[in-house]
Amino acid sequence: MLDILEILQQQAISELENANSRPELDSWRIKYLGRKGLLTQKLRRISELPVEQRPQAGAAANRLKALLEERHAARHEALIKDELRKKLEETRIDVTLPGRPVRLGRLHPTTQILRHTSSIFASMGFEVVEGPEVETDYYNFEALNIPRGHPARDMWDTLWVDSANEKGEYPMLMRTHTSPMQIRFMERRQPPIRVIMPGKVYRYEAVDATHESMFYQIEGLAVDRGITMADLKGTLYEFARRLFGQDRRVRFRCDYFPFVEPGVEMAIDCFICKGEGCRVCKGEGWIEILGAGMVHPDVLRRVNYDPEIYTGFAFGLGLERIPMLKYGIDDIRLFYSNDLRFLEQF
Ligand code: FA5
Repeated sequence: MLDILEILQQQAISELENANSRPELDSWRIKYLGRKGLLTQKLRRISELPVEQRPQAGAAANRLKALLEERHAARHEALIKDELRKKLEETRIDVTLPGRPVRLGRLHPTTQILRHTSSIFASMGFEVVEGPEVETDYYNFEALNIPRGHPARDMWDTLWVDSANEKGEYPMLMRTHTSPMQIRFMERRQPPIRVIMPGKVYRYEAVDATHESMFYQIEGLAVDRGITMADLKGTLYEFARRLFGQDRRVRFRCDYFPFVEPGVEMAIDCFICKGEGCRVCKGEGWIEILGAGMVHPDVLRRVNYDPEIYTGFAFGLGLERIPMLKYGIDDIRLFYSNDLRFLEQF
């Protein structure tokens, strides 16, 4: 029996040394130490031995069992350590590698020009105020002398939020210009007023190189005693000179807007063709950037200002047209198509 145990020990230990994974180790444990394992079988057979041999054989078998269990535990621990070491080697982080550069975001060109424009007007004493993009028919049209059925409504193709209702309530719309802010501001304040009101406006437009269906406007309004057309032209000339430089040509022409009298449009000579005529200026040589005029007396009366005492001027500027002129961008659609190759240039 002792010889048999001796052979079993040698066999078990040599196999244990060759077990190089946890499944192999498990199989080994079942083979030698399991309920039907080789050593367990030998232990059972001790009862078949002559009585005088049993104590010695039993003691030897138990020693062997303790030895194998101890060796198994040690091998198990060594394997776990080995696996961990391999894993750490595979997923090692090299802290000496240089870091990946972080891509910095930047302000959208529209935001940049909005801030620049606002600061020019602020330095001329204008305050900056914002208002709602979803408007009522009253502020967008009615209060600006554009009642229902007025042909001037065709000048602004409107995106309606509500359809007209039976009770004659004013339906809601996406504002087509920032001019409703003139009324909102004058309702709240008394002259003297000098304010600019920037924001998004929406039109049901046929989109092309100079027309978007969502774009920014800046509304300007000044109301006080004795304000004249000369103040309007002086302010806008000064603005254009500061923004585009002294050599840019500016043109005023008569225009019609129901809420001003007289009305004008201001244009700047085309940046692409320098006035010759091209695709961007549609052959005209000029690009219109704003509509303006003297605030209509009926508009002043509507907000309870006395037009015999107060006069004012107003203008509405298309914001995207400014970077187009300044940087020679020939398509307004580039601003809002999220192409980083374009946006990263600013
Ligand atoms: C108006 O919106 C008037 N509210 C402007 C105004 C204000 C006149 C105060 C008198 C007094 P108009 O529709 O022309 O006017 O637009 C004004 C400016 O917005 C244009 O000169 C142009 O620069 C810009 N603009 C107009 N339509 C578009 C468009 N679809 N895409 C980009 N810019 C546009």
